[in-house]
Amino acid sequence: MIEGIALDAYGTLYDVYSVERKCEEAYPGSGVNISRLWRQKQLEYSWLRTLMDRYETFWHVTEDALRYTLAELGLAANEGKIEALMASYLELEMYPEVVEALKRFGRRKKAILTNGNLEMIEPLVRRTELDRHLDACLSADETGSFKTRPDVYQLAVDRLGIAKERMLFVSSNGWDVAGAKAFGFTVGWINRRGLPPEELGVRADYTVSNLLELAERVVDA
Ligand code: LAC
Repeated sequence: MIEGIALDAYGTLYDVYSVERKCEEAYPGSGVNISRLWRQKQLEYSWLRTLMDRYETFWHVTEDALRYTLAELGLAANEGKIEALMASYLELEMYPEVVEALKRFGRRKKAILTNGNLEMIEPLVRRTELDRHLDACLSADETGSFKTRPDVYQLAVDRLGIAKERMLFVSSNGWDVAGAKAFGFTVGWINRRGLPPEELGVRADYTVSNLLELAERVVDA
């Protein structure tokens, strides 16, 4: 019986590639390349900093990843443009089905569980009024490490007071799906980009193309 839902934020609730237009405005002709490499390096740095035990906030890591991206693409690191692109992370587009899906999950406890530090994720949640549909917004920042460390997933168990066996974890990120499944959650993968599952020894319990489809699949679970 699923009693609680823990949801990843970036890529799952919010479209990290919606910064592409801002990237294209700032660096014409390079928007797509900046957006993709930026996300890739942001995640790589989160994993590497966790492995190196050199934690910095996801906001810090996101800015470092942007600076690397501009350097690799041979683009001038204009401070005004960097500040504007970082600000776009506070205005990411929310996927269209999210509110309806959260309603469809019913009266179960629901929380965001994200790498994003609260100063980064809370403005986004307030702007999109998602706080009206959530019981908590939980950040890996509390643990001083990033996903896929088990103590990040443990936050949802501790703060919602629901055993991991009765929690559904939801993410669009295959690597996050693997980390959550290895931790012991029931896991829903929002495979928005039609990718193959990661080869990390575990598989999601549910694989769907959007959040509403998942809410409908687990309505009686
Ligand atoms: C998050 C990123 C990793 O929200 O998607 O945790």
